Amino acid sequence: MAKMLICYYTRTGNTENMANSIAQGAADVAGVEVHPRAVSDVPVKSLIDYDAIIMGSPVYYGGMAAELKKLIDDSIGFHGALSGKVGGAFASSANIGGGNETTILDILNALIVHGMIVKGDPRGDHYGPVSINAPDERATKQCLRYGKMVAELTLKLHG
Ligand SMILES: Cc1cc2nc3c(=O)[nH]c(=O)nc-3n(C[C@H](O)[C@H](O)[C@H](O)COP(=O)(O)O)c2cc1C
Repeated sequence: MAKMLICYYTRTGNTENMANSIAQGAADVAGVEVHPRAVSDVPVKSLIDYDAIIMGSPVYYGGMAAELKKLIDDSIGFHGALSGKVGGAFASSANIGGGNETTILDILNALIVHGMIVKGDPRGDHYGPVSINAPDERATKQCLRYGKMVAELTLKLHG
């Protein structure tokens, strides 16, 4: 069984809602066990237990929240050990053009430095799902699609 972590920070619930929809999409793929977790419930050493790690954040001044960045910075203790795992990211902002894609790339930058494998989407949200405030029908659809896509890749590489 391949294992997927969906790790998020949220203050007002929007990013958490996205995480739950991504988890629902991933759970459709048989053979992948999905764990949506608030970043406060993710011990850094647990990262090595997963085959896929998707991280989500609200947009804070165009980048990820400090709470998520802290987990990433603490992961230096496992530098090299995450190489080859599947990675992904998602974000929620208050405004259109408010920094969702820069925030996703902020997260993906770190995952790439870890040697992780990132899946883009030629037809949906290209870098990862984005939402303006609470996820609407469009954003929820993107989250479901993304969860399924990343789970399928994880199964292919690690199943
Ligand atoms: C400190 C702070 C900085 C923020 N910076 C931005 C920003 O640069 N652009 C934007 O569109 N929204 C910004 N927001 C709004 C949040 O990204 C937005 O409300 C998001 O949906 C909150 O997600 P959450 O419900 O998961 O906490 C900011 C909010 C806070 C508290």
